[in-house]
Amino acid sequence: MKLNITCIPGDGIGPEIVAEAKKVLNSVAKVYEHEIVFTDVLMGGCSIDKYGVPLTQETIDTAKSADAVLMGSIGGNTSTSPWYKLPPEKRPEAGLLGIRKALGLFANLRPAYLYPELKDACPLKTQISEKGFDLMIMRELTGGLYFGDRKTEEIDGQEVATDTLVYSEKEIERIAIRAFDVAMKRRKKVTCVDKANVLDSSRLWRKVVTRVSENYPEVELSFMLVDNCAMQLVKDPAQFDVVLTENMFGDILSDEASMITGSIGMLPSASLNETSFGLYEPSGGSAPDIAGKDIANPIATILSAAMMLRYTFGLDKEADSIETAVKDILKKGYRTGDLKNEETPSDMILSCSKMGDVIAAEIK
Ligand code: NAD
Ligand code: IPM
Ligand code: MN
Repeated sequence: MKLNITCIPGDGIGPEIVAEAKKVLNSVAKVYEHEIVFTDVLMGGCSIDKYGVPLTQETIDTAKSADAVLMGSIGGNTSTSPWYKLPPEKRPEAGLLGIRKALGLFANLRPAYLYPELKDACPLKTQISEKGFDLMIMRELTGGLYFGDRKTEEIDGQEVATDTLVYSEKEIERIAIRAFDVAMKRRKKVTCVDKANVLDSSRLWRKVVTRVSENYPEVELSFMLVDNCAMQLVKDPAQFDVVLTENMFGDILSDEASMITGSIGMLPSASLNETSFGLYEPSGGSAPDIAGKDIANPIATILSAAMMLRYTFGLDKEADSIETAVKDILKKGYRTGDLKNEETPSDMILSCSKMGDVIAAEIK
């Protein structure tokens, strides 16, 4: 099969982790006899530096012409980088939001799974980590607070800033359908997370999600308030199967879910539209504090590449081969710095590029 993949390495650790995912994909292509064509494009801070804007039409068009997009991460240190002196619509993040919208990527799947080998890296009490967990955050990605009207104005001599949170029935319905479809292939439980005790938008979510659930009688639906969910995730993550939620709650809860798997460097993500097209990226950011040191964990990006093989190309065997390789190298004891503890032997702590090497070599 010929795989036409647009790559957006981005900023900070982005180019380092994408290089490792490409290495692993090339290894898969060799073992399973596929041809992969990678086309690199700029987005985020690097695009601002070259073109003055975080997202060019050329990047959108190249992404659209591909079967799928593999992304690293964009952005810099939001307190010190000169990119953050620019108006908001010219900053790196505007590029990411822009491409999600331009490609219609409304469904963001963020699976959080505690590898038994990483129980020691999980910061939760032993009795919780022993039980393990395997949950999927289904985050709505092109609506809500991120895409509502916003403005900063002067009223009575004071600056007043407004962000609006808007959801239509249609937007809620399509992500709910995706979440129930995903739940049908998992443990058939959906927890819809909202703030329905305060927000009208959340009350609309409850109504629409309940309606969608009527077509999935086998799936157990429950509702949970987001503040409680933040707490339940660290108290008993095993209670969750599919967590369905709006854009900003999903952003925050997925970082929390990532850390209980051991590190944000473990959490992959797929952003999908109505077709088989998708953009695949780790859930974490450009990690300016460790960029350029070859110490980032590339596993989330490598697992995102596995999601790409599964969701866009339907190559389940090949996707399995990546997931199994990750499991096997963790079993052998290999760790990146973010996953190590006092007992990790120093020769098992790998750089970003070495971690890519051992996973690529493990593909069977
Ligand atoms: P971040 O996720 O970049 O970093 C948070 C912490 O996690 C840091 O200590 C970092 O070193 C660590 N970390 C992140 N990824 C890691 C990895 N693969 N291996 C090891 N450690 C890792 O979040 P931040 O510092 O709040 O944001 C930095 C920049 O990244 C900001 O500009 C932000 O907007 C951007 N960002 C981009 C994306 C994206 O491109 N999808 C996602 C989140 C944040
Ligand atoms: C993510 C990121 C982005 C988001 C930022 C960089 C706009 O945090 O992909 O989780 O909030 O969606
Ligand atoms: Mn985030």
